Amino acid sequence: MRVTEYALGSSLSSDALQRICTVLSTLVQAIALAIVLTGCDAPRVLAPPPPLRAASAASYAVDVEFDVPLDRASAEDASRYALTPAGGGAPASISSATLVDTLYGRVVQLVIPDWLSSNPDTTDFDLTTSGVQSVTGGSTGTRSVRFRTGLSYRAPMQAWFDSRCSRCHGATRQDGSYRTDSYAGLLGGGTNSTPNVIAGDPSCLAVVKCKPHNSMFNLATLTYFDYELIKNWVGSFNARL
Ligand code: HEC
Repeated sequence: MRVTEYALGSSLSSDALQRICTVLSTLVQAIALAIVLTGCDAPRVLAPPPPLRAASAASYAVDVEFDVPLDRASAEDASRYALTPAGGGAPASISSATLVDTLYGRVVQLVIPDWLSSNPDTTDFDLTTSGVQSVTGGSTGTRSVRFRTGLSYRAPMQAWFDSRCSRCHGATRQDGSYRTDSYAGLLGGGTNSTPNVIAGDPSCLAVVKCKPHNSMFNLATLTYFDYELIKNWVGSFNARL
C-alpha cells in the first residue's frame, strides 16, 4: 500500500500519468499504422511476378511465363497464342505449345517453324494469350506482352544479371571472386581458371548453378523462365554481346 501511494501520490501527479498514457497510446498507434502500411517484413517480400513474360528460347522458339501454374490441356493448345510483329504484318504461325516448366508449371514453349528460315532476329513482337486456364480452373483472361526476338547481353541479359546477381557479384561484394556486372566479368573464371560462362556450352558453371534447386537458383530466387533465359542465352545464342 505504501509503495503504491508513494509511486502514484508523490512521484507522479495523475495529470502527468494521463499525459504519459496519451503519448504511449499515440506511439503504439503510429507503430501499428507503420506495420500495416509497410508490411512487417517488407524488405523480404518479393515483388509479385508480372502477369506475362516472353523471350526467345531459340531462333524458332519462344518461352512464355505466366504468374500462375497452368492447366496442361489449355496451356498446350497452340490456338490460344498469337504472335504479331509490333511493326505490323501477318501473325507468325505457331505449330506447338508445350508446358516445359517442370517446377511450377508456368512456362510454355511455342515453336514457330517458319522462323527457322525467315529468322526474324532482334525484332519486336506482341504476344497475346487468351483463355489459358490456371491449374485451379480459372481463366487467365487475355494477356499481352511485347518482347524482342533473340537474346543478347545488351538486352535483355545485362538488366537481368544486374537485377538478379550483381548485388552479390558486383562492386560491393564479389562472392566466389566472381562479377556479373559486366560482360567481361561474366566470362571470367571466379575461383579458378575455367570461365563461368562459356559461349555455346549450357553445361558451364554459371548455367548449372542457376538450374532449379541449385545454389544460385535459390540465392537469386529465380523462376524456371529465368533458368531458361541464362541457359538459352549461353546455349542457343552463344552468350553473344
Ligand atoms: C545472395 C547472394 C548471391 C546471389 C544473388 C547470387 N550469387 Fe552467385 N554466388 C554467391 C556465393 C556466396 C558464391 C560462392 C559459393 C558458391 O560457389 O556457391 C557464389 C558463386 C557463384 C558462382 C561460382 C563462382 C566461382 O568461380 O566459384 C557463379 C558462376 C555464380 N555464383 C553465378 C551467379 C549468378 C549467375 C547469379 C544470378 C542469377 C548469382 N550467382 C546470384 C552468392 C550469390
